[in-house]
Amino acid sequence: MPASREVTIAPSILAADFGNLASAAGEVASATSWLHVDVMDGHFVPNISIGPPVVASLRRHSGAFFDCHLMISEPLRYLEPFARAGASSVTVHVEVGRTGEVLDAARALSLGVGLALNPDTPFEAVEPYLDRIDLLLVMTVFPGFGGQSFMAEVLPKVAEARAAIDRGRLDVSLEVDGGIDESTAALVAGAGARVLVAGSAVFRDARPWEAVRRLQTAAQGDVPRGG
Ligand code: DX5
Ligand code: ZN
Repeated sequence: MPASREVTIAPSILAADFGNLASAAGEVASATSWLHVDVMDGHFVPNISIGPPVVASLRRHSGAFFDCHLMISEPLRYLEPFARAGASSVTVHVEVGRTGEVLDAARALSLGVGLALNPDTPFEAVEPYLDRIDLLLVMTVFPGFGGQSFMAEVLPKVAEARAAIDRGRLDVSLEVDGGIDESTAALVAGAGARVLVAGSAVFRDARPWEAVRRLQTAAQGDVPRGG
């Protein structure tokens, strides 16, 4: 088994039909146990998406690992509602500030703890927190919208994060988010990412579960057979 390049695909429901989220979750359940939930507050990012009530509703239909990406300015205020709603992990942005306090609060709620950084935020901003998190999310687009183009200039930062995690022998999942498709999956996996968020590439496909499997194959650097 190619353990070194094994990746998890986290389908982003931002690209799914919001009127049919339960079926969207069902469409990928055979291919991955993760679901990426993009939470936007119209303040940290210029868009509004979903909040704890939607997570709670979806939880009644899905046993997936809910990887909640909080693109919000006041995470401290909403960690508990997300925990109660059934979030599995919460990932907060380092740009928001009070990072240590937020990570501690998420840990105290028994949530998985993730830290995200924007394309223009240097790796040094998250480095002090690496031994306190379960997941590091390196954004490969500026957050706020699905369907944007992958920013290849972020690849060196992914490699830098991989090297630091390996050097410290840390149990931190390295995740990337934004513009992941079958061609960019190989690039980010090659740079060291092991959890790949994909919205459009999964839910714009007529068979989302097959799209997930193709991304997994693509991340291995192989050419998918049979199209
Ligand atoms: C962007 C979100 C992403 C987005 C990814 O703000 O954090 O998770 O849904 O969408 P695609 O895969 O379409 O770039
Ligand atoms: Zn996201």
